[in-house]
Amino acid sequence: MKVAFYGHVRQYNNIKNEIDANINEVIQSGQFVLGPVLKRFEGEFAAYSGTKHCIGVGNGTDAIWLALMGLGIGPGDECITNANTFFATAEAIWIAGATAVLVDCDPKTKCIDPAKIEAAITPKTKAIVPVHLYGQCADMKAIRKIADKHKLVVIEDNAQAVGAHGPGFKIAQLSDATATSFIIQKNLGTFGDGGALVTNNSNLDARVRQLRNHGSNARNVHSYGFNSRLDDIHAAILSAKLKHIDAWNDNRRTSAARLTAGLKGTKHITLPYEVPGGRHVFHLYVVETKDSSKRDGFLKYLNDAGIDAKTHYSIAIHKQAGYPWGKQARIVGSLTNAELNAASCISLPMFPELTTSEADYIIEKVVQWDKAQ
Ligand SMILES: Cc1ncc(COP(=O)(O)O)c(C=O)c1O
Repeated sequence: MKVAFYGHVRQYNNIKNEIDANINEVIQSGQFVLGPVLKRFEGEFAAYSGTKHCIGVGNGTDAIWLALMGLGIGPGDECITNANTFFATAEAIWIAGATAVLVDCDPKTKCIDPAKIEAAITPKTKAIVPVHLYGQCADMKAIRKIADKHKLVVIEDNAQAVGAHGPGFKIAQLSDATATSFIIQKNLGTFGDGGALVTNNSNLDARVRQLRNHGSNARNVHSYGFNSRLDDIHAAILSAKLKHIDAWNDNRRTSAARLTAGLKGTKHITLPYEVPGGRHVFHLYVVETKDSSKRDGFLKYLNDAGIDAKTHYSIAIHKQAGYPWGKQARIVGSLTNAELNAASCISLPMFPELTTSEADYIIEKVVQWDKAQ
């Protein structure tokens, strides 16, 4: 059997009529950039997020740095995030011109460890950028408390967790702005690149709307800005998919529960941890080998068995060659948990259309490997 890592084509075929109708609507409207379908989707995604505003932008990376820039954060300012995230989190801080301050993650959730944040705060600190890694919320209540105490801004990197919530809080409820990526592989993904920023801050909304469109609010009137817009065709696809996101996340949770039940007797891997009272949406189902020296062999074994497992992310940001490329960066404390995660993580296939027989095949092969150790 072969088990793919993604189910994009299956997903498209399941709701083909809805996606095709929405794409056709854009084509027939003749308006492809900053048109009515983008406007409609921005309203739909703001409503889904429980925020006043949504600004569609070119990708998730841009959403982060546009938020920082829109809040006046740039050169000389410091932004705290964790080292074990996708590269773009730190990259966005650098694009804004600020200093990326890297701290360790919580050993269980792999999200930023709030207990590590305060030691990293200096008079230059302006923002915390927590990442809801793998589809599970960072501890936003603890992060908000620290931010309030030190008068910091919080920008959530929600590229991976659309539809998740924490125990007693929603995403976008406890921050100044929340950035999302709609690249195809995300839980809510378009057929290409896309992103959005959601916020209740009307000044930030106005500023980012201007920045994403050459500094312009009105035809022929410009100030310094960029070109980073969510195309109407992508908004149309996302509008069709948004109606299904909660059901798709439920499917991910069902498959994750099946994998966890089937793998709970294993001795050589650690299974994903779910915070009680939260909703983990399993953008990724990440296990760790207890002995990190066995990770690469395990990955090869799975790939040879036809299971397209991957790693997220096997080189932490501060270990990438050339770090920090002449940009401003600071590491605070040891990054032991982040480094161990990089050395031992394996993402098993996880997508809403994963079948029970595919999940059972993954379980069979992982258990076989575990017994052979
Ligand atoms: C945690 C995280 N942050 C930021 C991004 C950047 O999003 P994009 O690829 O849309 O720029 C991604 C995904 O690619 C991500 O996983």
